[in-house]
Amino acid sequence: MCGIVGILGTQPVAGNLVDALKRLEYRGYDSAGVSTVENGVLGRCRARGKLRNLQSRLEEMPLKGHAGIGHTRWATHGAPTETNAHPHMTDKVAVVHNGIIENFKSLRERLEKAGAHFETETDTEVIVHLISQALEAGAAPETAVQSALKELEGAFAIAIIFGGHDDLMIGARRGSPLAIGYGDREMYLGSDAIALAPFTDRVCYLEDGDCVTLTRTSVAIKDENGHPVDRKISQSQASAMLVDKGNHRHFMAKEIHEQPEVISHTLAHYVDLSRNRVEIPDFNIDFATLPRITISACGTAYYAGLVAKYWFERYARLPVEIDVASEMRYREAPMQPGGLALFISQSGETADTLATLRYCREQKQHIASVVNVRESTIARESDAILPTLAGPEIGVASTKAFTCQLTVLACLAIRAGCERGHISSDQEMELVGQLLEIPRHISRILHDEKLFEKIAHDLAHSRDVLYLGRGSSYPIALEGALKLKEISYIHAEGYAAGELKHGPIALIDEDVPVVVVAPRDELFDKTVSNMEEVAARGGQILLITDDGEAADSFSTASNFILPKAHSFTNPLLFAVPVQLLAYHTAVFMGTDVDQPRNLAKSVTVE
Ligand code: F6R
Repeated sequence: MCGIVGILGTQPVAGNLVDALKRLEYRGYDSAGVSTVENGVLGRCRARGKLRNLQSRLEEMPLKGHAGIGHTRWATHGAPTETNAHPHMTDKVAVVHNGIIENFKSLRERLEKAGAHFETETDTEVIVHLISQALEAGAAPETAVQSALKELEGAFAIAIIFGGHDDLMIGARRGSPLAIGYGDREMYLGSDAIALAPFTDRVCYLEDGDCVTLTRTSVAIKDENGHPVDRKISQSQASAMLVDKGNHRHFMAKEIHEQPEVISHTLAHYVDLSRNRVEIPDFNIDFATLPRITISACGTAYYAGLVAKYWFERYARLPVEIDVASEMRYREAPMQPGGLALFISQSGETADTLATLRYCREQKQHIASVVNVRESTIARESDAILPTLAGPEIGVASTKAFTCQLTVLACLAIRAGCERGHISSDQEMELVGQLLEIPRHISRILHDEKLFEKIAHDLAHSRDVLYLGRGSSYPIALEGALKLKEISYIHAEGYAAGELKHGPIALIDEDVPVVVVAPRDELFDKTVSNMEEVAARGGQILLITDDGEAADSFSTASNFILPKAHSFTNPLLFAVPVQLLAYHTAVFMGTDVDQPRNLAKSVTVE
């Protein structure tokens, strides 16, 4: 899930390549590099770490070519060193690559036997040598690329420039996304339209298996069988503005604080506000006759799906099968044709989610996706798109996208409940009314942010933290643990509160804080029993609830008391304190909150 970009320009392109890479840094930030061709000679500049390091390097040794490619890396094969940074090149060709070449070991052995000298530990370098060998044997660039592509197994997107060719760039995709940008006597390639937005809004998404040959004035696309094809050029909605942090210290803080607003926007899309009724635009599923829903997603988006399972089953009596996409894609789950498969993804590019979507399509499911990036591959491959209106999410840890996903899923569950006769018209108005209250409740929680800062200072000294929840609070406990570990690097686990005594309770001692997510609902007393078990073993409890009186009676716990809402909407509300706890703990520890180590915002490799 690296970011790639290419420009055939009319001025030196290195600066624009770096600007485009800044917009792709969400895809990885282990290293970055650019390569340009100037008077037929390839030049390259690379640096380990964030883009600012590459920028300083380029100031010391500028590249002047008017054609170039750039890359921001999330390391898969080979450590995040400068040597392993892209572009990889010989004097004949320079390549940037996103994805994984699965058969790189056997290709490398064969190429080495034939005399190729490898400089890196990457899988990408085999592409460079395959193309170079074909060029040396006299093939034209396009033929050399085509013959290399035939050898590659795996998912990838690549952009290539050539020594001796100042007006040529070739791109190809299989599995990973790649878009062409049409400029005025300039042409572009990019992992997404966001990268290209400062240069052009005329964008064409390549289809799987496509290979494109670009000059400044021509575009020739061939499909996987080598047949010339036309692909639709569309007007991209991606904004050319680089999103900024406003008055916040981190994107994550800004995005947490945007939640009241973006949830309101999302609700406005799915609710007829004059009647407090759910109306899902362009969605033609008949829930009344639907036998079941299959939900799949990864990470935080999966936890949104897990909350939805509780909602669909309880409020619509609709069975839900749910699994993480990395498992579901290979499980060969039998599916009754005509079912609904629902995918949830902020980026719309997550490789495992996309692969599961394709599996479900083969199984003749109707495909719907809850996505934040409407131009993404998952959105484009869905029969119905259910957009979240969260706006660009830059912080690697998902926050506002999660609560917007919950908002959409809550609306969908209400609609399913109504159509299946389990939610009456009055109940619908009541539940919608409760959803409309959520932005106001979240604003109140955010108003008390200082309380979370204080507790976070204590959490920051922990080695392990447990999160407990029951019912629809269980996925929130899982999400809280994920948020904490990914940005603070403190080990954290979420458990269904009732599972504690089946093993995890052995971990409890006075050094292990236990965060309990427990709204005062019908399961509250059960969770309190589990809290007692923790307290009896000296564990420190941090109780997040909405019942001040009950919390006071539990004197050994530190408490956060949230506004009282309906049990249906509680997951939306309780998501916010666990985000704030993780955020302030990470800030206190001084970690890189927006770009935590080893992670990337968009996971386009499996
Ligand atoms: C965690 C996080 C990830 C993503 C996951 C899926 O904070 O952001 O767990 O939720 O990688 O990504 P999308 O939603 O883009 O499919």
